[in-house]
Order: sequence, then structure tokens, then C-alpha cells
Amino acid sequence: MLSEELFNEIVRCAVMAPSGHNTQPWLFSKKKNTIVISPDFRRALPVADPQNRELYISLGCAAETAMIALRNHGFEPELKVCSTSGITTLEIDLAKAETKADSDLYTWISARQTARGTFAKDLPARHVSEQLRDAIASSNVRIYFIQGKEAFELLSPYLAEANRVQTAGNAYRNELIQWMRFSRSEAIHKSDGLYTASSGLPTIGRTFGGWLIKQIITTANEEKRQLKLLKTTPLFAIIATNGDDHEQWVQTGLALQRIALTATKLGIAHAYLNTPCQVETVRKKLASTKLLQDSTPQVIIRLGYAKPMPRAFRRSAKEVMINLTE
Ligand SMILES: Cc1cc2nc3c(=O)[nH]c(=O)nc-3n(C[C@H](O)[C@H](O)[C@H](O)COP(=O)(O)O)c2cc1C
Repeated sequence: MLSEELFNEIVRCAVMAPSGHNTQPWLFSKKKNTIVISPDFRRALPVADPQNRELYISLGCAAETAMIALRNHGFEPELKVCSTSGITTLEIDLAKAETKADSDLYTWISARQTARGTFAKDLPARHVSEQLRDAIASSNVRIYFIQGKEAFELLSPYLAEANRVQTAGNAYRNELIQWMRFSRSEAIHKSDGLYTASSGLPTIGRTFGGWLIKQIITTANEEKRQLKLLKTTPLFAIIATNGDDHEQWVQTGLALQRIALTATKLGIAHAYLNTPCQVETVRKKLASTKLLQDSTPQVIIRLGYAKPMPRAFRRSAKEVMINLTE
């Protein structure tokens, strides 16, 4: 039986999962022996994520974290992806397991972070990519590793095109500013969003910070910044799926969190260079390349060695729990 205490503990772990712009777009409830994770559309990103694709990937990350924590507590969780009237919720059914499992990834839940700092030149050893590939539990999800010239030649045109689409007009910038947290006190107070210190940016308050971001995030500057990341990142992993719907996005999230935790365990930093996946037309073009062979790229991860950054904040378990009868 899932006690209140255990439910609280599982949600406390699950909220440490990554989410696009750290929106934490999830709500947790329980019914008997089932944990339900529902999308919180008040936290959607209509400009950066118009299809709620990253929202559902984030729910998948939270579900995987919850399942790793449950296994560590002696349960054998089973995930059901349930869709009604175009809305998908995740239901994790519990049964007692014979043996404890996954405890090695459980240890790394709180240590994992998105490392937005500069990566060292060193290429992770081959066994790293092998272990990351092995970490994916789903047969629907593929992972492609690329590096150096091959990565630059494949990704740079799509990155530039997607960036042009994304940064045209002010909508993207305005949404980003809304989710940025420009001081430690604002980041703690909201306990969500993109804390500037976690990206190596100054903590200068909302008025000046918002103004500064409007000057910095231009199409040309963003292209330059992202191409530099493309050139200086030693290794990329593209997570891709057969299909491009809610179910596949959730599956991506499950795999992404397992990859992120495994990388953390191996001492490998990870961050994102997702722009080509975020614009649907560009995502389709990238899917049709020789490397991807029609599987849809969902997330592009940078891998390497980097120093830790100040951590992003999270809302408490209590703040994301709802009563299903409400
Ligand atoms: C689906 C998804 C997409 C993301 N895309 C980006 C991205 O494009 N750029 C980026 O810097 N971080 C990206 N992130 C990382 C989040 O911003 C990060 O998880 C969040 O700020 C919380 O920080 P943490 O991962 O260090 O806990 C993404 C995360 C997820 C789950």
C-alpha cells in the first residue's frame, strides 16, 4: 500500500527531474496503489514548445525518477500512458517486487544537473556511450552519438534555421524572460524557472536582467553562441523515436532521465542543444537525414566534462500534489 509518507518521498524525488525552462509542468496525485502524474498546462511554454512536446518529455523524466525511487523502496512499478480527449496522463501502478533494483541510479537523482558551463575538450571514453545506450530501457527510443566535424556538418544548418524561426519577433524572448529568475531571492521565492547563476549569467535583478536579455538574445548572437557550443562540445547524443506523439515524447523523457542519471554516475556532464528539435519543420528535416533514417530527433544532449554550476531550484512535493477528487 502506498502510504502518505512514501507518496511524499516519491514526489520529492520526482520533482528533481529536469524540465524545459524548469517549468516543472507536473501535478501528482494518488489513488489506492497508483501514482498519477498529470500535465500542468498553466506551466506550458506556448512559444518555445507549441505542441507541448517538451512538456510531455518532462513528465516522462519525472515518471522515470519516480519509478527509480519506487524500485529503491522495494516496489515493481508499471507505467501506463493514458490519453483522454487529447490530454495524456501517466499512471504508475505499484506491486511489491521480489528484489530491490536500480539503486545505483537512485543515488544520483539529487546530484544530476544540467551543466551549462564550458565543456573541456576531452572526449568521454567509448565505454561511456556504450553505458548510456544500455541505460535506455525502451525499445522505441534510439540514441545516436556524433562528434567533431560530423556533428558540426550535420547540425549547424538545422541549428541556424531553427534559431531564425524561434527568435523572429519578440515572443520567444518575452517568454524566456518570464521564466528567468534574475536573483537568488527571486529563484528561491518562485522555486522554478531558469536561475541566471545556473547558466553562468549575472544575478542583477529583473528590471536590468530583462533589459539585458532583450539586448543579448538576438538571432545573430544566439546563432553565434549555439554554433560555438556545437564546435566546442566533445560529444553529442541525439535521442530519437519512431513516431512523434504524446506516447513517444513520454518514452523520450523516460530514456532521457536514465541517460542523464547514468552520465552523472559516470562523472560525465550533460546539457542541451535542442533548437533543431524544437521547431517542428526543422525536426522533420533532421529526421530525414542519413543518420536518423526517419526516426524523429527529440532531444540533443551535449556530453563531456564541466564544472558544476549553482543548482536550479524546485517547488516542494506539497506544492505539486493534488487530490484527484478536487
Ligand atoms: C525536454 C527538455 C528540454 C530542455 N531543453 C533545454 C535547452 O534547450 N537548453 C537548456 O539549456 N536546457 C534545457 N533543458 C534543461 C532544463 O532547463 C533544466 O532541466 C532545468 O532548468 C532544471 O535544471 P537542472 O536540470 O539542472 O535540474 C531541457 C530539459 C528538458 C527536460
